[in-house]
Amino acid sequence: MVISAIIAAAGSGERFGAGYPKALIQLLDRTLLEHAISSLAPVADQIIVTAPAGFEKTVSDIVGDGVIVVTGGATRSASVRNALAVVTGDFVLIHDAARALASTELASRVISELENGSTAVVPALAVIDTIKIINSAGEVISTPDRANLVAVQTPQGFITSELRTAHASALEATDDAALIESNGGVVKTIPGEERAFKITTPSDLNTALSYLTSGREIRTGIGTDAHAFGVGRPLWLAGLFWPDQEGVDGHSDGDVAAHAICDALFAATKLGDLGSNFGTDRPEYAGASGTQLLQEAFSMITKAGFTISNVSVQIIGNRPKIGTRRAEAIDAISLALGGAEVSVSATTTDGMGLTGEGKGIAAIASALVYKQ
Ligand code: CTP
Ligand code: MG
Repeated sequence: MVISAIIAAAGSGERFGAGYPKALIQLLDRTLLEHAISSLAPVADQIIVTAPAGFEKTVSDIVGDGVIVVTGGATRSASVRNALAVVTGDFVLIHDAARALASTELASRVISELENGSTAVVPALAVIDTIKIINSAGEVISTPDRANLVAVQTPQGFITSELRTAHASALEATDDAALIESNGGVVKTIPGEERAFKITTPSDLNTALSYLTSGREIRTGIGTDAHAFGVGRPLWLAGLFWPDQEGVDGHSDGDVAAHAICDALFAATKLGDLGSNFGTDRPEYAGASGTQLLQEAFSMITKAGFTISNVSVQIIGNRPKIGTRRAEAIDAISLALGGAEVSVSATTTDGMGLTGEGKGIAAIASALVYKQ
């Protein structure tokens, strides 16, 4: 059976209040949308994402080739209908990007239930709160027996033709199973999972983060480096060559920003420091470029099982002015670190100390890494 998956990501995320679509919110190393895609990708032959109008290109750039992007509608149901039009699978999973942490295993169980002959399958969890039905004046009409209530999640699975028929009437509902129900179809529930909860408000992001980081060892490290200016030396700083600027002395190319980052990475991962890994007793690193050392450090920490969450470096000196080449510096460092999240800042020290007196350049860096 061919499986298609629709990821509804066209909402504006009003309740979250980020000022941009909720699906594009960053959670650790990826957006919510990318988390959702990565759990469905192993079980889906076709993936379609609904993007908020005006964000089609942003979403395409994020999801890359192999994922179809369609423009969403004004409501979730309208968004799903737009995506249904391009579905080619026999079965279709409808998933909320906002349920970014639903597991591949949950999606597999939904598909198994469809293969066992169900028309519509929804993951469900028992409700914790007592639920009341109220009228427009806020008065309670009734209290349904909690034992008969469940809260449903996504991915929900359907025989594609049945869902198309249900959607053909252009009804609105907050989930797709409701359209099958109102068409008289049978919807089967299977056990849901806590981690498939819907990220709705900023505090939900903390909950999501705790799912991703539990069992992960998170470590930080700091590193500093300083070199004095040296007559006749070219300047290499933050992975870039700075023409017409006096360079600094050093065993390697003297890129203090790159060195401070290497030190921070070694400190975070307890792999020693710059000196013990690339010091003067390692002649092969004489004259090595900052980016070469960053690549080397990256490969060492990767071998030790660590992933970079982010690195940050601050350059301390009167010159050169970093601001105009900040984006270039970030790109150069990030490239050497396998695409890691990098920030580069700079400051002066009010004329005090080595760098304030114009005798050299220093840098201080921090790194956050984690190990599964
Ligand atoms: N969604 C969609 N098209 C819409 C509205 C919602 O594709 N017109 C998607 C959302 O992107 C989300 C899912 O449906 O992944 C569930 O909706 P919800 O959690 O309510 O997200 P938002 O509508 O973005 O949030 P809010 O209601 O707070 O604005
Ligand atoms: Mg909504």
